[in-house]
Amino acid sequence: MRGSIRSGFKPDEVDAVAYVFSAEIEKSLERIRGVSRVAAKVLELGDFRAGLEETVLVYDPGKKPPRIILSGAGSRSDWLDAVERLRVGVASAIKLARSRKQVKKLGIIVSEGLVEAAAAEAGVGTDWVVEQLMVAADMANYAYSLRGREEPPHVLTEIGVVPGTEDAAERARAIAEGVRVARDIGNAPPSDMNPVRLEHFARELAERLGLGIRVLHRGDLETLGMGGILAVGRGSDVEPRLIILEYNGGDETVALVGKAVTFDAGGLDLKPPQSMLEMKYDKCGGATAIGAIVAAARLKLPLRIVALIPVVENLPSGRSYKPLDVIRMYNGTTVEIGNTDAEGRLILADALAYAAEKYNPRLIMDYATLTGAAVVALGNHAAAMFSNNEEAAKRVEEAAKRAGEPVWRLPLWPVYAKQLESKVADTNNVGGRPAGAITAAKFLEKFVEDKPWIHLDIAGVAWVQEKGPWKPYYPGGATGWGVRTTIELLRLLKSTNKR
Ligand code: BES
Ligand code: MN
Ligand code: ZN
Repeated sequence: MRGSIRSGFKPDEVDAVAYVFSAEIEKSLERIRGVSRVAAKVLELGDFRAGLEETVLVYDPGKKPPRIILSGAGSRSDWLDAVERLRVGVASAIKLARSRKQVKKLGIIVSEGLVEAAAAEAGVGTDWVVEQLMVAADMANYAYSLRGREEPPHVLTEIGVVPGTEDAAERARAIAEGVRVARDIGNAPPSDMNPVRLEHFARELAERLGLGIRVLHRGDLETLGMGGILAVGRGSDVEPRLIILEYNGGDETVALVGKAVTFDAGGLDLKPPQSMLEMKYDKCGGATAIGAIVAAARLKLPLRIVALIPVVENLPSGRSYKPLDVIRMYNGTTVEIGNTDAEGRLILADALAYAAEKYNPRLIMDYATLTGAAVVALGNHAAAMFSNNEEAAKRVEEAAKRAGEPVWRLPLWPVYAKQLESKVADTNNVGGRPAGAITAAKFLEKFVEDKPWIHLDIAGVAWVQEKGPWKPYYPGGATGWGVRTTIELLRLLKSTNKR
């Protein structure tokens, strides 16, 4: 695997060593003096203050390796906890190392005591902190690369982390692969990852990881009455489908549902060109569900996990579904189409209803780049979270905090449902401009049968946009947002069970 993460490294086998410091510079000075007088001079002169995302590269000809990177982990703040600041410190070092073609192998040393301090602050073990730093390291070292590209982007071939155990590295590689898979799906050009291609991609993954896979095609969807997926998919020459992946590690079931619109042109309610330019990323919700099940399977988590990914292209054509059409969903609900560009909720609705009915899930979690309104509300630094269940909501908030993937809960008050009323069907698929992220969630709520349910609108965070999210472990393009939160949540579900 490219850019593999491991615990420890040999100084004479790496091209550069990076030291991650917190902003308590005095202690660091003592430490670095023992390492390199050149590096110590940089600190003495005040050229490096170990602020967040602050880095320097110094050359010490007497040392092996001669390249020394100093990277800051900042100081206390309300916005980033100690673990997240260390992730930023590690990731910034990698970002700098990647800017030098000569650096292929990197050793990272997190200054003594920082891991312990972060673990104490977060109330977790040091081994978990190390694992998280290793995941961040791999995320910072990611590049999407089209096959056969002449000059692929520069990535490090090896990253060794100190302190670190091989156990932590093994878990980190599992989680990091989930993030990579999610990013690869999100970043793929839309025609390279259309519904057929995504099915093939999922089949290869399932084969490699020993996951169960079932794919429902047009005929199956017709038999089942999945009118949402069928309607949205009708405008494309590539037929829609519902991919179902299964990992069997235990008795209790968690269902992960992800929106995969491999390209969202808007349908007959066509998007303007500028908005359409980002819509290959409309498959990022499905990508997260797939990435999460990959990581969970590699971690051998003691749960049954079912990932349900409705996959469509939303295109205008002579066969497209139309505004004012009335369609019938898997659970029998009829929907008047107010706007063909509100397609995500239609495909999710069928998948959610199917998950609720067939799998007896303890929890259903969905991910979707669902609304521009979620971006207007929270910008590019937090996902909008919705839930019909207080317990589940609290746990996801905790998991997201641990993962460094902020969520902010918005309400599902009954009054918002009024905006969805239709004269000719059970509901409309749109509720007007006000509270657009909430009315979309209210629509989804009709399809989960009161099962504990979490909806994450990741429209603002699923890929790096003009205004964020900005983290040194997001090199650009798809972020894989939600994979790590899901892993933390699944671990949390199991640990609280035992009490
Ligand atoms: N995929 C879009 C939502 C989106 C827009 C995500 C911009 C990220 C950035 C979704 O399918 C959509 O088009 N939603 C409409 C809903 C509206 C028609 C009610 C939107 O948000 O404008
Ligand atoms: Mn749309
Ligand atoms: Zn969409």
